[in-house]
Amino acid sequence: MEKEPLKAAIHQCIEAIAKDPKNPTLYQDLGDLQRQCGDALGASQSYRSARVLRDHQLSAKKSDLHFQSSVDNTDAYLDLLKKSLTYQLWDASDGSSYEMRASKPLISAVRLLQRTKEFFKPSSAEQREFGMDWPSKAYTMVGIERLNNIEYCAKVILQDGIEGDFIETGVWRGGSTIFMRAVLKAYGDQKRSVWVADSFEGMPKPNATEYPADKKFDLSMWKTLAVSADEVRNNFKRFGLLNDQVKFLEGWFSETLPNAPIDQLSMIRLDGDLYESTMDALNHLYAKLSPGGFVIVDDYHCAEPCKQAVNNFRKKHQITEEIIGVDWSAVYWRKANKS
Ligand SMILES: C[S@@+](CC[C@H](N)C(=O)[O-])C[C@H]1O[C@@H](n2cnc3c(N)ncnc32)[C@H](O)[C@@H]1O
Repeated sequence: MEKEPLKAAIHQCIEAIAKDPKNPTLYQDLGDLQRQCGDALGASQSYRSARVLRDHQLSAKKSDLHFQSSVDNTDAYLDLLKKSLTYQLWDASDGSSYEMRASKPLISAVRLLQRTKEFFKPSSAEQREFGMDWPSKAYTMVGIERLNNIEYCAKVILQDGIEGDFIETGVWRGGSTIFMRAVLKAYGDQKRSVWVADSFEGMPKPNATEYPADKKFDLSMWKTLAVSADEVRNNFKRFGLLNDQVKFLEGWFSETLPNAPIDQLSMIRLDGDLYESTMDALNHLYAKLSPGGFVIVDDYHCAEPCKQAVNNFRKKHQITEEIIGVDWSAVYWRKANKS
């Protein structure tokens, strides 16, 4: 969309929000428009507002939860864990080993409307909240908002009794999978596994012959991305969350996923950045996803090869479920129930 129509659409959206401030869809739409304007931070904040409203709707239904939990303690535990895993508890003071991954944001029309004249640069805490850097010490690079998204999806899965394990393909230091396991523990689920899939030696070299989209996306030189399985196991242990519900798939996705002993999944979280890594995961896992389960794509808006793989896979398999933004980069969709 051109800049002027975008501004007008944003203006309309803000007016609609003023009239209907509890409607998450309006914030979701605003986030989409801000993202198109290049306002990564503004979009992430709007998506967060949408998520907060959805959380309220979910907790309004919490008497329906069929599992036993002391909800206040559960929330407090999970909140503390999110802050620890992302290093937000220490104001993201660990710094980055690789600076911002977001493309340089433009001042969006919303910011103009808010009469903010300064060019904005997210603070370290904001970068960490929305997963915009590669942190030095934090256990995950995904940021609090994406952990909130994992929590939301997990709660819906548990509440609706959707069968299946959770998996992340591309775990780095393991933080997101540690959090998946924590949510299961917090809600007393002792039957689902969390599958932890990674090479544990960093990114593969792009195979540009077979996957031309990956040609200019070589991250294999980044030592920062190579975290051993032992280190990840240790990270689980630190949080008291390593037990036989945690299952490691060590090696390249193309080798581990085709024969992985997984029966059924309810949450698939893709974080392998490349076309090849994303497509391998979708090809070998999507058929195992229960109706009502979730696919989360960490890099949809920040890694073009990943977006292409997702779009091609969805087109080929006629997947039309709505793609919902989480922040400036991540999205998710919920697999429809068969009609
Ligand atoms: C961006 S990091 C994942 C970040 C992580 N989800 C977190 O919470 O911080 C990408 C990871 O994907 C892994 N990876 C990417 N492509 C892969 C492939 N084809 N096979 C195995 N591992 C892969 C890398 O080793 C790396 O650990």
